[in-house]
Amino acid sequence: MIITPEQRAGALDLLAFIDASPSPWHAADEMARRLESHGFSRLHETEAWRLQPGARHFVLRGDSSLVALVIGQQPLVSAGFRIVGAHTDSPGLRVKPRAAHIAEGVIRLGVEVYGGPILATFADRDLSLAGRVAVRTTRGFESRLVRFQSPLLRLPNLAIHMNRAVNEDGLKFNKQTELPLLLGTGGEELPPQKLLMSLLAREANCESESILGFELAVYDTQPGACWGAEGEFIADSQLDNLASCHAGLTALTRVSETSATCVGAFFDHEEIGSESAKGADGSLLADVLERIALGSGVDREGYKRALAQSFLVSADMAHAYQPNFPQAYEPQHLVKVNAGPVIKINVNQRYATDSTGEARFVHLCERAGVPYQKYTHRTDLACGSTIGPMTAARLGVTAVDVGNPLWAMHSVRESAGVLDHAYMILALQQFFDEPGTAG
Ligand code: CO
Repeated sequence: MIITPEQRAGALDLLAFIDASPSPWHAADEMARRLESHGFSRLHETEAWRLQPGARHFVLRGDSSLVALVIGQQPLVSAGFRIVGAHTDSPGLRVKPRAAHIAEGVIRLGVEVYGGPILATFADRDLSLAGRVAVRTTRGFESRLVRFQSPLLRLPNLAIHMNRAVNEDGLKFNKQTELPLLLGTGGEELPPQKLLMSLLAREANCESESILGFELAVYDTQPGACWGAEGEFIADSQLDNLASCHAGLTALTRVSETSATCVGAFFDHEEIGSESAKGADGSLLADVLERIALGSGVDREGYKRALAQSFLVSADMAHAYQPNFPQAYEPQHLVKVNAGPVIKINVNQRYATDSTGEARFVHLCERAGVPYQKYTHRTDLACGSTIGPMTAARLGVTAVDVGNPLWAMHSVRESAGVLDHAYMILALQQFFDEPGTAG
């Protein structure tokens, strides 16, 4: 296997992106930082927008969803929008408001389960906390990002001597009683909740009493790594779906002059159904697209005409074939790591792909010179979904669901391919760079 220096660099940059993004709020912040370094400036939803061809901007909503855009050179009405969508959140554990309590001299933090993680993978990992804190100020409050760099928490396994059937029955946790994370000992000097708030206050650079609220994700402090005989694989947390965010963002930052208006839409809350003010089933993307039209001097009919010319590539990860578990896969649709991006198809529209969207993505891959694969789930297994169907439904645009092959989706440590990531960036770049209008 030949891995070029550019392909290796792309994978390492992805791992750096993930390691800088231990929570969806950090992911959006890191995307904003990268966009600003490529000449994008922030637009605020509270202000009036005046947009010129070639303008590069981004919009943040709720600190964890972000829409980035490059205004096209051709009239919006005839050229439409080219949209890449992905999600910033990953399943895991989130800290309860009054989380800290003490039991037999051990301080623990109560957690809620966010989305559908493989809970057993959180055991025996070097865990810590990252998120945002609402801090009281003289004018009200402000949100501050917090991140504990070193391991702060742990979920120690039960010894096999006390759980003799673990290798036959699997590792199971009762979500209420067996998931609280161990934080420390004692509690004599400081009540447990006060200890938690003082730790948070130190990270947020404020007084404990100034903390009015918080949203904290549990994250794995182990950095990403390349692995395999030739380092052809990558492992990290949150590859679903920060790998797609990184591919979409990288492609967008490489756009120079485009004919159509190019959009990268990165949503929080996908893992819990997307129904929120900043989720893919909320108004965010439609609001931003309509305001791009209005801010470019296009009226509402023109906006609807632009949508009719538009196309959405919904990028999320796909299930790579794991040869130890052949029974889990549809045998005619095995997708392999490092064999190229996957077009995801489901007749019940769990994926938004139809044959025209499929054709368009095949064309993109051919022109970009990258291989591609096609996936469908086993008929006797329930299929997952993505932001694709709901985003396509809300906007009324044609769409395709794609994604790179991934092992162990929703594990705290997922794996994917170095080549696939490079291929996906090229395919999305091709999408943004295509001349002319929708085909
Ligand atoms: Co996903």
